[in-house]
Amino acid sequence: MNDQSQPFRTSQLEENDGPGHNPTDNATMGELIAARFSRRGFLKGSLAVSAIAATVSPMALMMADDARAGESKSAFTFEEVEVGIDETHHVAAGYDADVLLRWGDGIFADSPEFDPLNQTPESQAKQFGYNNDYVGYIPIDGSSEHGLLVVNHEYTNEHLMFPGIVKVVKDDKGDAKIEIAPADQKRVDIEMAAHGGTIVEIKKTDGKWQVVKDGKLNRRITANTEMQLSGPVAGHDRVKTNADSSGKKVFGMINNCSGGVTPWGTYVSGEENIHGYFTGKLPEGSKEAANYKRMGIPEGVYDWGNFHDRFDLSKDPNEANRFGWVVEIDVNDPNSIPKKRTAMGRFKHEGADSIVAKDGRVVFYLGDDERFDYVYKFVTTGKFNPDDRAANMDLLDDGTLYVAKFDVDGTINWLPVVFGQGPLTEANGFASQADVLIETRRAGDLLGATKMDRPEDIGPNGVNGKVYVMLTNNTKRKDDQVDAVNPRAKNAFGHIVEIAEEDGNFAAAKGKWEILLKCGDPSVADVGASFSTDTTKNGWFGMPDNCAVDAEGRLWVSTDGNSPKETGRTDGIWAVDTDGPARGTSKLFFRVPVGAEMCGPLMLPDMATFMVAVQHPGDGGEDWKPFGRPSYYEDLSTRWPDFKDNMPVRPSVLAITKKGGGKIGV
Ligand code: FEO
Ligand code: CA
Ligand code: CA
Repeated sequence: MNDQSQPFRTSQLEENDGPGHNPTDNATMGELIAARFSRRGFLKGSLAVSAIAATVSPMALMMADDARAGESKSAFTFEEVEVGIDETHHVAAGYDADVLLRWGDGIFADSPEFDPLNQTPESQAKQFGYNNDYVGYIPIDGSSEHGLLVVNHEYTNEHLMFPGIVKVVKDDKGDAKIEIAPADQKRVDIEMAAHGGTIVEIKKTDGKWQVVKDGKLNRRITANTEMQLSGPVAGHDRVKTNADSSGKKVFGMINNCSGGVTPWGTYVSGEENIHGYFTGKLPEGSKEAANYKRMGIPEGVYDWGNFHDRFDLSKDPNEANRFGWVVEIDVNDPNSIPKKRTAMGRFKHEGADSIVAKDGRVVFYLGDDERFDYVYKFVTTGKFNPDDRAANMDLLDDGTLYVAKFDVDGTINWLPVVFGQGPLTEANGFASQADVLIETRRAGDLLGATKMDRPEDIGPNGVNGKVYVMLTNNTKRKDDQVDAVNPRAKNAFGHIVEIAEEDGNFAAAKGKWEILLKCGDPSVADVGASFSTDTTKNGWFGMPDNCAVDAEGRLWVSTDGNSPKETGRTDGIWAVDTDGPARGTSKLFFRVPVGAEMCGPLMLPDMATFMVAVQHPGDGGEDWKPFGRPSYYEDLSTRWPDFKDNMPVRPSVLAITKKGGGKIGV
């Protein structure tokens, strides 16, 4: 499949390193700690992290002994999983974690069998896509045992997907690293078909979930699905291209990270790291230069531009303005045209969780996942009508986008991102609301929004009235850039911020904020973690990414970036107490196989099923002692979940249920 005329390249998207990128390479606190973990990992193999020889905080000394005694205060009653790293997943005792959907599984009655050696774009388009990320559920007839599962397929890992494309070379230090061959057209078209989303009917029978392959609403969305730009940007000159003089007709959604399900039962999906798909140079003097630079476009990780001109900036300079939006998909009609809802802004969208405010308007919380970027919310102008689904179908075209300013006194002010208000005027190069939305980040810059440590999922909690903001990390924050809401320089492990909107009104223009949790190992004083003393050595985590709030208002957090090197553990799902005496206590519920990232998570309304997504399993193995080298198709650090010699590793969605049934974690 290789075109040997082009150079091999490294395989990974350089993620979320945009305008905050610090060109110096001073070792950060996180890196120093990581190095220490790494040595320990090699010495001991399995890890007992609280025993680390480092500065030990008084809190940490209390921690281990007190841990058991405190458990009764927690809202979670499951028996905690032990941290560790191996080839498979682990769930708390008394629970089953069953694979429901794997990359390549057929989702239609006529889908071809998965054949990794003979994959085609056509077969991939009828199969479950790659790198499942967001997982949502839309009940059929209100059921928690029969509904539509909606899943984002964020991106593709070519070195794990395709045979015969990897070359192992030595880096400057003499360590093995992999490079992958440039793509041919077939590979690119498979990649494009493996992106997007899946909508699939699922049903629980005798306590076990199954895919309904002949479900009439089953659908694959890909990087080629016809979509419509709607809202203020639709039809604007800056989104017209060679192929589309209307400025309204777009093909595909890419890098869909997290998302949401609206109160009216549609699937919303955030386009995140779109910069990696574009190649080529903008024409000299292009007025999009600053706009694209702020978004890190082009990054050129994928070879799509070699075969599809629209991804080559020199040939179609406006195409990249048609990505970076929230996409809304009407799952009730498998032929519906997905809509890119431009009123919700253009940036590296993480999730789009929503809640109905007291007055009936609907509030969407939106994170822009980049170091030093912003937290947003979108408030619809119209009100949610629970009795008339059709009346809600264009609510997302009309509303107000706000960007967050977190003040030192604990106030959060939501600043309107509206043309003509404040600095968002012609004097600053905006001629309309369309301009403001296309360059949402620059609007946030001018408004003085607070530069955050990578805003990821933001979960409103309808039970306690609060909102939880996952901030993954930001090792580029310098000492003189620390502020009240991002209190750690070189923040390697991230934190979680809690917002209480004024008067419990999610649509309010201001509220209060405080930090729920500073993440990382609480036994290392320099880390400055703030888990409760009831948290065990298994209970702490780094890099919060996605979150789920269950029907009882309990918070579940999934992580991205825990590894042998960084934290001596894999990613997983941690249950975090937010209320009462156990506030700040965390417990490990589930962990992923080596190399994987934890995505989803989703608790179904009856709390008897917890869906989790295992993304890029087997991606890496250098830092895991039993493997100790790069992982790729022919030499994988794990063959999860099938463990067959002829099957590659496969990103999968798992359904977790309690043995014998019943509510999870209760
Ligand atoms: Fe796709 Fe923000 O991680
Ligand atoms: Ca994420
Ligand atoms: Ca993620």
